[in-house]
Amino acid sequence: MRISIIGCGYLGAVHAACMAKLGHDVVGIDTDLRKIGELQCGRVPFFEPGLPELLEEVLGTGRLKFSSSIDDAKGAQVHFLCVGTPQRKGEYAADMRHVDGAFASLLDCLEPGNIVVGKSTVPVGTAARLAEDLAGRHPDAVLAWNPEFLREGFAVKDTLSPDRFVYGVPDGEPGARATAALDDVYSTPLSLGTHRLVADYATAELVKAAANSFLATKISFINAMAEVCEVTGADVTVLADAIGLDERIGRRFLNAGIGFGGGCLPKDIRAFMARAGELGADQALTFLREVDAINVRRRLRAVELTRRLVGGSLLGRRITVLGAAFKPDSDDVRDSPALNIAAQLQLQGAEVTVTDPQAIDGARLRFPELTYEPDTVEAVSGADALLLLTEWEEYRTLDPERVARLVRTRTILDGRNVLDAQAWRTGGWTYRGIGKP
Ligand code: UDX
Repeated sequence: MRISIIGCGYLGAVHAACMAKLGHDVVGIDTDLRKIGELQCGRVPFFEPGLPELLEEVLGTGRLKFSSSIDDAKGAQVHFLCVGTPQRKGEYAADMRHVDGAFASLLDCLEPGNIVVGKSTVPVGTAARLAEDLAGRHPDAVLAWNPEFLREGFAVKDTLSPDRFVYGVPDGEPGARATAALDDVYSTPLSLGTHRLVADYATAELVKAAANSFLATKISFINAMAEVCEVTGADVTVLADAIGLDERIGRRFLNAGIGFGGGCLPKDIRAFMARAGELGADQALTFLREVDAINVRRRLRAVELTRRLVGGSLLGRRITVLGAAFKPDSDDVRDSPALNIAAQLQLQGAEVTVTDPQAIDGARLRFPELTYEPDTVEAVSGADALLLLTEWEEYRTLDPERVARLVRTRTILDGRNVLDAQAWRTGGWTYRGIGKP
């Protein structure tokens, strides 16, 4: 099929490469000339394992092109909207300017029978609103909503073989036409058994909001348990292992630590609360306020634990933060708990050095006041305390004895509960986990 992808940020670039991999003729479009220039040359402007290799492969087949002109969407049968919906400044609600702008410019390029597919995470009601605009201009075109569930770090795998496809489509013949078109687009994963659910627009939009709310709630639940563990002397990891063995609960997303961050979970639960408020259903989601509050508290707790670990005052203490990205295998620092904690420590008088295998450039742009050191050995040298805040493999496997020779004081806060506490304590370290005795 001939496909256009509007928006070549994280979601769009991955989607474009993956759709070409599935055998389609794809044009990726973005107004950012620098981004398009890089992608055309096979360079991925962010870190995502496996994507550079895939991009090189599909560019080589000639099935994938990139362009900065929306006119190049003309001729495609299916158009995917993959632009971002960031949190509005000073508000909880989503900023819809990119979606509305991209959709408006796409309207000039559509041909009879085209299918427009929204993938962005949007407030419920957006698809119905856009469908009305579409009907006014192109009565023969159909809008579908097909939310994206990919995780950073696993984006290629999650796009090529997701857990499920969800299609939000209108009733009747137009809905059947949109469903058939999406089935063609995803015929390879569907033939391999990927689930596919067809729903109305509102349900499809809500699936995404509900899934992210559930994941955020699961993380905040275990972090709330960590708070209780800390005042009772219990161990949250053993607790998570035990409750996770109940199949109804499951062990995944029950890792206590410094909480969730990134470009999705925090802003998506806030936008969901804002939208529910607009719809008069805010009471239904008041629990998400608590989910958010527990999450914010984790960061304050990490600062407090660090203060105690270094003897009560942060002033002049040399703190090394291991990890800046919001999670490992990513260079994304949007709403990163690690950087937020690092900045708070610095504000309270500590001398903070941050290291990360991939995220230093992005971190420096957002927090220029912090000191950055890409080399782990250099970064930890002379430290009064180490804080493991993003669980990159290279930090999980640090050798306590080797590191002991570099630091000034053998003190470590394991903000993700991934180190072998016994091994570090045996090596003479003051080791502190989260939600542990
Ligand atoms: C998330 C959703 O998982 C994905 O389905 C959706 O499409 C986009 O948002 P992502 O932002 O890539 O994906 O990150 P995810 O792997 O969900 O992690 C989010 C945050 O939660 C990270 O900061 C991570 O460190 C934290 N986390 C995750 C925990 O603190 N504990 C856990 O047990 C799991």
